[in-house]
Amino acid sequence: MTHGADPAPVPADTPPSGDGAAPWWRRGLVYQVYIRSFADANGDGTGDVNGLRSKLPYLRDLGVDALWINPWYKSPLADGGYDVADYRAIESRYGDLADAEALITEAHDHGIRIIADVVPNHSSVEHAWFSEAVASAPGSPARARYHIRDGRGPGGTLPPTNWQSVFGGPAWHRLPDGQWYLHLFAPEQPDLNWTNPEVQSEFEAVLRFWLDRHIDGFRVDVAHGLVKDPAYPDLDNATTRMLASSKLPNHAHWDRDGIHEIVRRWRAVLDGYDGDRMMVAEAWVSPERLPLYLRPDEYHQSFNFDLLEASWDAGEMHDIIDSATKAAANVGSTPTWVLSNHDVMRATTRYGLPNGTDWRSWPATGPHEVLDVARGARRARAAALLLLALPGSAYIYQGEELGLPEAWDLPESVLDDPVWERSGHTMRGRDGCRVPLPWSPGGPSNGFGSDAGWLPQPAGWDRLSAEAQTGDPTSSLELFRSAIALRRVHGAVDEQLDWITADDSTLAFRRGSGLTCVVNYGPEPVPLPEHGEILLASGPQAGADRLAPDTAVWLR
Ligand code: GLC
Repeated sequence: MTHGADPAPVPADTPPSGDGAAPWWRRGLVYQVYIRSFADANGDGTGDVNGLRSKLPYLRDLGVDALWINPWYKSPLADGGYDVADYRAIESRYGDLADAEALITEAHDHGIRIIADVVPNHSSVEHAWFSEAVASAPGSPARARYHIRDGRGPGGTLPPTNWQSVFGGPAWHRLPDGQWYLHLFAPEQPDLNWTNPEVQSEFEAVLRFWLDRHIDGFRVDVAHGLVKDPAYPDLDNATTRMLASSKLPNHAHWDRDGIHEIVRRWRAVLDGYDGDRMMVAEAWVSPERLPLYLRPDEYHQSFNFDLLEASWDAGEMHDIIDSATKAAANVGSTPTWVLSNHDVMRATTRYGLPNGTDWRSWPATGPHEVLDVARGARRARAAALLLLALPGSAYIYQGEELGLPEAWDLPESVLDDPVWERSGHTMRGRDGCRVPLPWSPGGPSNGFGSDAGWLPQPAGWDRLSAEAQTGDPTSSLELFRSAIALRRVHGAVDEQLDWITADDSTLAFRRGSGLTCVVNYGPEPVPLPEHGEILLASGPQAGADRLAPDTAVWLR
């Protein structure tokens, strides 16, 4: 079989992955919807709930088990909706609560579960609680819901600590009366005080609000950030990076032990509901600390970001897969794999940069010429077959199935991510992976909506549209469709992984069903195992029994 062509037919009685003995999320394939850029039903340039409803048949046919929808709550969108003004209302640009309820029902009718995004670390400055806090006196109960403190130095004119915002600049902002509030992200995102019982009970009520509306799970934003050191010490090494700082022991605001008590209470709330309701943590913590979040009475899953951060290197990826698989098994969970999301450069471009490039700051820091577009596309296709062959669950990000590249040269005038301003225009931020999806060639936004989208699509995206790729056996979309169908039959049936080879240039492993995945990371073709029928390949092979560079293959 050549790449992308005719998957083995799925037998009619094959249970969708997750049905049967294991809860669905252990092996589920989750599709991330960045709703602002997914599909625009009302033609205002912004994606919406009804646009998503119209694409449910596409998602069902793609074969996904669940959708994770980025925050859809009422929000001024200072950080793409991660600044929530009302956790129980849908942002009017996206629709209303009735639309969301209809979406949940219709998705369930298609056999697709819905994971909502919950943002507990901070609210929006437009949340009623923050307005009340600003209007209230220092020391008042309204201020105690946030981290609001006196400053240091003469007249309190200096911030209370040296903590830095993840988006750049100090993490404190001064109120008109002279006190300072903490914002680990943008100033429009004041951090909530999780030692306050009112904050705790409000969030439990918010979880119930959505569970009562049949939400199947929650992705928990900045799960490692909720608890702050009550002594508010200065940091020795104040850094804006979430990952780097969270790897430091006993950090003042990342990955503190008190987080786990909060998570256990949320877990009890979920366990009180029928069905396999789940929670997945966005916790940028060290591999040693990650299993703590996965204990049986805490999160069901936590994203593994190490694979996403890894270079295109067989040894590095082997070690990450091996240790994450063992660590998850030790606490009774399964690994949760991800290669792309709304915060990182799209894999197709990332893998086109030389190993070791700091893609978070490229192209501001590096020449454009180092990007090898064709190599990036080849490697992203191979990485997709790796991702979808791994045991556990996999999350794919909208447009990943289309092989979309990062729109890394968007005009500066359209950049919307707070990172751009906060970094003093040294980091372009994350807009390049958030460009509206192309659905069909032509029109002002290639089928995203009847008008131009809120970010412009790069030239050539008509050819990357879902419609243009459908039926083309060499397309990224057909590769994903084939792989996902095969995954249901061969990959998601158990959680076994046995290594066959892991050397400098090749990774090969077998799954319990007999599915074998081989990836060639090196510059030369490598021999394929002698026995085995090729089910799917990410690109042309180098002869019948040799695997070309930057290519992956599935055999049985
Ligand atoms: C998470 C989100 C990111 C957001 C940040 C602050 O990392 O994924 O998009 O900016 O939290 O809420």
